[in-house]
Amino acid sequence: MKQEYFERKDKELFCEGVSVKAAAEKFGTPLYLYSASHIKERYNNFEEALKGYPHEICYAVKACSNIHILELFAKAGSGFDIVSGCELRRVIDAGGDPRKCVYAGVGKSAEEIKLAVENEILYFGVESVPELERINAIAGKLGKVARVALRANPDVDAHTHDYITTGKSENKFGLTFSQTEEILKNFPKKYPNLEAAGLQIHIGSQITETEPYRTAVLKAAEFVKKLRAQGTELKYFDIGGGLGIVYKDEEPATPAELIKEILPPISELGMTFVCEMGRYMVGNSSVLVTKVEYVKENPDKTFVIVDAAMNDLIRPALYEAYHDIVPVEEKDGTFVCDVVGPVCESGDFFRKDCRLAKVGEGDLLAICSAGAYGFTMSSNYNSRNRAAEVLVEGDEMTLIRKRETYEDQVRNEKTCR
Ligand SMILES: Cc1ncc(COP(=O)(O)O)c(C=O)c1O
Repeated sequence: MKQEYFERKDKELFCEGVSVKAAAEKFGTPLYLYSASHIKERYNNFEEALKGYPHEICYAVKACSNIHILELFAKAGSGFDIVSGCELRRVIDAGGDPRKCVYAGVGKSAEEIKLAVENEILYFGVESVPELERINAIAGKLGKVARVALRANPDVDAHTHDYITTGKSENKFGLTFSQTEEILKNFPKKYPNLEAAGLQIHIGSQITETEPYRTAVLKAAEFVKKLRAQGTELKYFDIGGGLGIVYKDEEPATPAELIKEILPPISELGMTFVCEMGRYMVGNSSVLVTKVEYVKENPDKTFVIVDAAMNDLIRPALYEAYHDIVPVEEKDGTFVCDVVGPVCESGDFFRKDCRLAKVGEGDLLAICSAGAYGFTMSSNYNSRNRAAEVLVEGDEMTLIRKRETYEDQVRNEKTCR
């Protein structure tokens, strides 16, 4: 386990000053346990790396959207990267500033665009001509000018899992440089209610090297120069998100290393730097605490069946993602097993053929690095109640999302009777 703010004291796992076992006893399992100090430190690492240069750090809400977590970012002065109207509403509820929100995504509805224009967000990351036309029309009706950043696809391989690579030309995201150039010709005439404010690129997620970023930034910087020669001035240079974290033995670049590599071509252009990190900010801030229900011995395999499942953390099933699993209390001995959940799918596993501490019924396990795309991707599959979430800071633990109940699950169905 390599997560700052999680450590063993006398064989027992702690999150900051709180015993993980005590949290599980108080709030039950499965339980997402987050370290507030980790999140604050990660945000500050970017602030430090960008000190003295005009920038906006926009936390990618989709990574972990609990309003109490968003509040930590809002208090630190962060902006937000949103992908839906309800994410914008979460930011506002958390005390975040909508004027520091950038709005990405290929399918924004008219209703969502209206909400964002009314709240005067920083800009829309625009991915198609029909979307530009729609935003222009809605802003016109509201008597406003909306800012847009065109999302250009730099056609760079981010060396990450296929499902989380987004900067190659075959992905559904963004516009080609030539489409972007065409759109920006006579822009004020074509789109009188829009201001072309920036260029955005986002090449993928869990990127551990600086090289793909540098390649993409250099390509985009050359493109900005070409646009300038044609009379288009853009203010914001948005590199998207994607910086990786440690799940196993990765050695991801730090924000300082990344910024050192990519800021020079951007500062040469005098543009404001924007980034939209999600996973980096929260991925290692959390563990999913789960209880062993049974240890099942088959002739060929041992299965450790836990009370969390793919509906709580889908990354192993969806991306073949690796998550370290450690016992909350150290045990003597180890065995090789599959750690699986109770859902009726063969894909419902957390680890296969892993060497694990010799746990038994009732023991607690921590599934590590679960803070990003963990709870936010959870569902009620198999009519399972979604987990509780608890935020730890120092010796304090605060329930930030109650465990769902059966009544929560069926409320909107029963009202249709
Ligand atoms: C446009 C955009 N920005 C930012 C992010 C956040 O990525 P990450 O969590 O890898 O930093 C994503 C992730 O899908 C994205 O699509």
